[in-house]
Amino acid sequence: MPVPFEMPDGAPPIIPVVVIDEAEKGPALARALLAGGIQAIEVTLRTPTAAEAIALIATEVPEICLGAGTVITPDDVQHVRAAGVDFMVSPGCTPRLHHAAEASGLPFLAGAVTASEAMAMQELGYTRLKYFPADANGGVAGLKGLGGPLPGLSFCPTGGVGAKNAAEYLAAPNCFAVGGSWVAPADAIRSGDWQRIEDLAREASSLV
Ligand code: 3PG
Repeated sequence: MPVPFEMPDGAPPIIPVVVIDEAEKGPALARALLAGGIQAIEVTLRTPTAAEAIALIATEVPEICLGAGTVITPDDVQHVRAAGVDFMVSPGCTPRLHHAAEASGLPFLAGAVTASEAMAMQELGYTRLKYFPADANGGVAGLKGLGGPLPGLSFCPTGGVGAKNAAEYLAAPNCFAVGGSWVAPADAIRSGDWQRIEDLAREASSLV
């Protein structure tokens, strides 16, 4: 059975989705998020340095709940597992990816937005899924719409989620967390503006 994803106990249900160009910035970024009250991070595999950033965060900031995002292939699963992640996130899922994720023993947050996709994942044993790209797929109304026929599933919407609508998503009964880049914007990471990220993290934590 797949391992369901859980936020750390008492953590705000918010997962910053980050793109890191310089691996050595990873630990400072993770510390800024923790200082602002955020306890999880999803480092996307969208830069050549992502795996190195993940490994550095895992070693230097073990107290953060560390996820790898944009996990697309079984190879990605092997690499991020070796780098020391606590969980994995994918925009969708494929049979090969499901088998690799299940074999890894790591919690896996796979994406689904239609009823058929969500039902297929439920058949495989998933109870928690990513809803991506959330805003382009009906936003809060689209997410809530899945809740009537599929009450056994709970989602983490990402894609177009931000300070303006995060609380509205979180109020949906089938939403267990939200994710997005607004807490740690790429330009703030690039310029090493940790204070700005800490402030955004504090603001995000206080949404709930
Ligand atoms: C993504 O995968 O890029 C995330 O969902 C972030 O989306 P956002 O930039 O709209 O928050």
